[in-house]
Amino acid sequence: MARFGDVVIAPEDEGKEKHVPQIHAPASAKAGEPFDVTVIVGEEVAHPNTIEHHIKWIQLFAKPDSKRPTVHIGTFDLGPTFAVPRVTVPVILEESATLYALEYCNIHGVWDNSMQVTVE
Ligand SMILES: [Fe+2]
Repeated sequence: MARFGDVVIAPEDEGKEKHVPQIHAPASAKAGEPFDVTVIVGEEVAHPNTIEHHIKWIQLFAKPDSKRPTVHIGTFDLGPTFAVPRVTVPVILEESATLYALEYCNIHGVWDNSMQVTVE
């Protein structure tokens, strides 16, 4: 059986157009207290942002260290030209977790990245 994860493109496959969603969040946070998570596509080299070629959506998930399944935090549906592929959302964690960001380019597919946040 083909798995969706098999078609997600890894950061090491990056080309000259920057697709990997960069996650900006504190390395540690206090349990139950909100902190901002920002996901940026094209941080170093701007990704094209035209009707023909753009970032359509960004998604953010958290995988708590002790629980399954992964939790959906947000889906940000973006339009071309006017919407910049950079989103910020306040997040509350009760325990340490891995944040996963996905993004979809309408030409180059789905890309991902992750970051660990330790909750004190
Ligand atoms: Fe692209």
